[in-house]
Amino acid sequence: MDTDRLDAALTAALEEVEPDHSGETSDYLDDVAGRQRDGLAAAVCTVDGHQASAGEAEHAFALQSVSKALTYAVVLEEVGLDAVLEHVGVEPSGEAFNHLSLHDDGRPYNPLINAGAIMAHALVPGKDAQTRAGLLLDRYSAMAGARLEVSEGVRAAESARADRNLGLAHLLADPGVLPIEAREAVDGYLTQCSILVTAPQLAVMGATLAAGGVNPLTGERVLQEWVAEQSLSVMLTCGMYDATGQWVAEVGVPAKSGVSGALLGAVPGAVGIATWSPRLDERGNSMRGIGIFERLSERWDLHVL
Ligand code: DON
Repeated sequence: MDTDRLDAALTAALEEVEPDHSGETSDYLDDVAGRQRDGLAAAVCTVDGHQASAGEAEHAFALQSVSKALTYAVVLEEVGLDAVLEHVGVEPSGEAFNHLSLHDDGRPYNPLINAGAIMAHALVPGKDAQTRAGLLLDRYSAMAGARLEVSEGVRAAESARADRNLGLAHLLADPGVLPIEAREAVDGYLTQCSILVTAPQLAVMGATLAAGGVNPLTGERVLQEWVAEQSLSVMLTCGMYDATGQWVAEVGVPAKSGVSGALLGAVPGAVGIATWSPRLDERGNSMRGIGIFERLSERWDLHVL
């Protein structure tokens, strides 16, 4: 599809969902994100590098839980599938993102719930928190084809309410399965959640996954093909929390949502899609983001089945 047609389709989808102001923004993020609670942006990037965007395409928002899928890809690439599977599974939990959801052997069900994401972060190679965060920023930036940064404001808001994540991390540490200290794992996980992207940058990250690990804008191979495939598989089965079944039935695209209202989708061999709209449904997924994906999936026949 050429860029003009992409633009027109994206703008139409955005205009259709725009009037919907239902849903709530996450209250603890009000200080940093609440002022833009009715913001809206969408972007796509095809695997051959065609881009389009609509709405507030310049606005940078925090990745939040979308980072879970990206860090999973990075640790697969860095330490290999077997080492990752020894620490975190690939089964949907069917529970909310902040539940413990551990297999009997102590492994979190999957890397896209908080317990699994804290574990995945702890697998990032590096001698200290700064090295691990630096490696993630480098790899995320390569996926986006742009230099990304951490929002100190978001990170501070996150750290101020980290008790539940710390609780999860301590429960992972107790049987000795968390490779680094609990506090460090949570701080690092919250740092990755606080990395800022625009919708067009996030769409390029999706396109990198959709293209089997090659960034379609820079041509750089950022991830091996099997890593992209494994990451997309887990996004398809676990990416929308306990609403993933409904998402797959209706939209059918590997995806990951975040509490900032970010939503990343990647259709293998075709396109990366990103939306940002902070009002969330009761499961924590972006209301208007879902609306845009539903429309694009139907109009572009994106359902993977
Ligand atoms: O772990 C947390 O509390 C957040 N920083 C990330 C949560 C998130 O995005 C889950 N969202 N719906």
